This record gives sequence, structure tokens and C-alpha cells, in this order.
Amino acid sequence: MAQTILVTGGAGYIGSHTVLQLLLGGYKAVVVDNLDNSSPIAIKRVQELAGKHGPNLTFHQMDLRDKPALEKLFASTKFDAVIHFAGLKAVGESVAKPLMYYNNNLIGTIALLEVMAAYGCKKLVFSSSATVYGWPKEVPCTEEFPLSAANPYGRTKLVIEEICRDIHRADSGWKIILLRYFNPVGAHPSGYIGEDPRGIPNNLMPFVQQVAVGRRPALTVYGNDYATKDGTGVRDYIHVVDLADGHIAALCKLSDPSIGCEVYNLGTGKGTSVLEMVAAFEKASGKKIPMVLAGRRPGDAEVVYASTDKAKRELKWKAKYGIDEMCLDQWNWASKNPYGYGSPESAA
Ligand code: NAD
Ligand code: UD1
Repeated sequence: MAQTILVTGGAGYIGSHTVLQLLLGGYKAVVVDNLDNSSPIAIKRVQELAGKHGPNLTFHQMDLRDKPALEKLFASTKFDAVIHFAGLKAVGESVAKPLMYYNNNLIGTIALLEVMAAYGCKKLVFSSSATVYGWPKEVPCTEEFPLSAANPYGRTKLVIEEICRDIHRADSGWKIILLRYFNPVGAHPSGYIGEDPRGIPNNLMPFVQQVAVGRRPALTVYGNDYATKDGTGVRDYIHVVDLADGHIAALCKLSDPSIGCEVYNLGTGKGTSVLEMVAAFEKASGKKIPMVLAGRRPGDAEVVYASTDKAKRELKWKAKYGIDEMCLDQWNWASKNPYGYGSPESAA
């Protein structure tokens, strides 16, 4: 019998790609999303891309903090596991509106965990972030590194990780995998689904993409005086389809009787500078990306990349794609959908 997976935030960037891989892998997916940062078009397109598996996706527009609605859903459907993406994720916004972030990310997660416990569904995969490594003293980052958070967004990730460790300590019936994503980029190779941030993008590649399609005049490069190969910040960019596959590997691992509450990095283990990433995108798109040099962005680390050993060893998962494929697929999505799922009028 096909397993039924509840995917919170499944209309979003990483969620939509993961839901597609779930459907293609023979799972049934039930998506709950309030569409705060996503479009129902993403759900429709995932259904289309999934072909004959499309009908195995159902969607509920719902806020996780609406506990009675969540209870109703759990009462009507038996879930084998939950993948929990839903949350707000813009670092700058979290500094300006901390209560909004604590309210959404923490209250939403607590409501979800309470309803899961009440209905005896105790298998969870949670979207954590490499942001919990702060400015790491050395690289690659292993899962045992000390944790810190430099902003309210990061603190919500740290607190949720701790909540998960606590509920597992209190009840070993819980099976929880915390996935620390490095920098997800790219899009499905079809160019039919991809990232569609609202407003001015905070992250590097969505910004580069909007410069390439003429929506922004130039990329601001935050700092060229880091102790790196070319002075710009170094990150571990990972293709979103690889990341999505990492969730399927995590779901499989939840069936391992020895699993408790475990954490895994999802990255490639390779560091790429801002200038290298821009060059790869220029090659993939044939577009020149004008750049303006600026000072460092507050809170930015110098070099962050993952140790991938634990995920390879225990999840039997590793990233397949490099930055050339990431940029090709990002450009394919961008050129086919210069305004994402919206229109020039709806864009900021
Ligand atoms: P996204 O904004 O595209 O997706 C998140 C989805 O959650 C959105 O569709 C949004 O509408 C929904 N949502 C938010 N609050 C909700 C609520 N209270 N109830 C119901 N739905 C709600 O973001 P993404 O990039 O796909 O990220 C998914 C998860 O991964 C997030 O938890 C994010 O913090 C984490 N993460 C993302 C990155 C990244 O760079 N994209 C890196 C590390 C971790
Ligand atoms: C940022 C967040 C982090 C979050 C991650 C993924 C901050 C301080 N950190 O990390 O919490 O988990 O996104 O969502 O916001 N860059 C530019 N110009 C730009 C944008 C970025 O030069 O317009 C540079 C940055 O300085 C950095 C690199 O590009 O060196 C990557 O930036 P970004 O995509 O924002 O990711 P992170 O900094 O890793």
C-alpha cells in the first residue's frame, strides 16, 4: 500500500519539488499550505508533471496554526509521516518582525506536533538550515558542530530542533529527522516549477535570475574582502531536485527501527564563491550579469560548506548535480517564467 505523507508548506519552493519526487516515487501526498509565500499554480504544475501519479496529490489551503482544521484533517486521513517545510524564511524580515516569525514558525510547529501526537503519527522530517552553524570556526561543517543563531529566523530553527530532541527524549516512539539544508538553488529540469520569491529576493540566485531577465539592473555583491579565493563569500549550493531526493532518503530512514531523533546535512560538500556562481550562471544563460560591489552583509559568514559523510553513510544519499546543472535549470525556469507564477503586474 502506498504511504500517505503530509507535506506542510508543499506549495513552496523546496516543498513543490519534494512533492513531485514523492509522487513519482509512488507515495500519496497531502499538502497543507496557507499560500502566504507560494502560488496554487505550483500545485497544479506538480500534478501535471507527475502524469499518472498526479491524482495522488491533494491540496488544502490551511494555516498550520488553525489547530481545529489540522485536527479535522488528521481525523479524516491516516498519515504515515509528515514532512514539515511550512515556515517563514527571510532573515532580514525576521529581524524587523521577530514576533511574526516566532508566532508563525513556533506556534505552527507546536500545533502540528500536538496534533501528530494526538493522532499517533510520530514520524517527522523537519526543514532545518545550515544557518544553525552560524559563522563556523572551520569547514566542512559536521552535524556535531556547536550551534548558534544570529537572528530570529535562525533561532526558530534552533528552538524547533531542540523541541524535537525533547519530545523524542520524552517519548521514544517519535522518529524524527532534522535536515540541515545548505543553499538550495536551481529548478526542476522541465522549467515548469521553480523558486518564485515575493518582493526583492534576499538570496543570491533568485536575485541573479531577476537581473538576467531584466527585472533588476545589477547584482550587489556583499563583500569582496573575505579570506576566500576571490574575496567573496563561499557557500555550498545544492540543486533543489537533489535536495528533494534527500527527503525521500530521509523518509526511508524513518522506517529504520534504530532511528530516534537524528540530524543530517544536505549539501554537496563543495564551496563556491559568489563570483564563481555568477560566472556559471552567465555561461548557462548567455547573459551578462552587471555587478556592483558593496560592503559585507551583516550576519554573513565567510565560508560555509557541508560535511556530507553522515548523509552518504546513513541515508545512502548524495547530491548528483553540480553548479553548471543548477544554473542551467535555474535559467530554464527563469527564461520560461520571468515573473515566476505571476505576471509583470503582480511582481514587486
Ligand atoms: P517557501 O517560502 O517557498 O515555502 C514555505 C511554504 O510554507 C510557503 O509555501 C508558505 O506559504 C508556507 N507557509 C508558511 N507559513 C505557513 C503556515 N503557518 N501554515 C501553512 N503554510 C505556511 O520556502 P522554501 O525555500 O521552500 O523553504 C522550505 C523550508 O525550508 C522552510 O522551513 C525554510 O526555512 C527551510 N529552509 C529553506 C532554505 C532556502 O534557502 N530556501 C534553506 C534552509 C532551510
Ligand atoms: C542566507 C541566510 C541564511 C539562510 C540562507 C538560505 C543571511 C545572513 N543568511 O544565507 O540564514 O539559511 O540564506 O535561505 O541572510 N550575496 C550577494 N548578493 C546578494 C545576495 C547574496 O553577494 O544579493 C552573497 C552573500 O553575501 C553570500 C552568498 O551570496 O556570500 C549567498 O547568499 P544567500 O543566498 O543569501 O545565502 P546565505 O548567505 O548562505
